[in-house]
Amino acid sequence: MTVNFFRSPFAPPTNIRVMVDGQTVLALAGESVAAILLRTCDGPTGHDHAGRPRAPYCMMGICFECVAIVDGAASVRTCLIPARDGMNIQRQNGPYPLPDISCQGQAKRNG
Ligand code: FES
Repeated sequence: MTVNFFRSPFAPPTNIRVMVDGQTVLALAGESVAAILLRTCDGPTGHDHAGRPRAPYCMMGICFECVAIVDGAASVRTCLIPARDGMNIQRQNGPYPLPDISCQGQAKRNG
């Protein structure tokens, strides 16, 4: 039996499937996404803007070491996000490109 530190031992086990960097991973509903990253990633769970390895540290939303791309949203503090079935999680390596919200970018998107 696997004991999950980040989940109540009294909660009924509910298996869900999430994607981590394109791989299907079994998880428990409500488990934090950071816990899933720590459990499934060999080595760092991401890299900062200078390419230094990062991994969840505080597990309470303060350090920002756990940021990842969750369902297309970048820089999400994964320690604060409970896992849901079908969630798409990607490790974030370096700064995530911001969308071009200029008039030229809007014109490109509109064709
Ligand atoms: S682990 Fe510190 S903010 Fe998520």
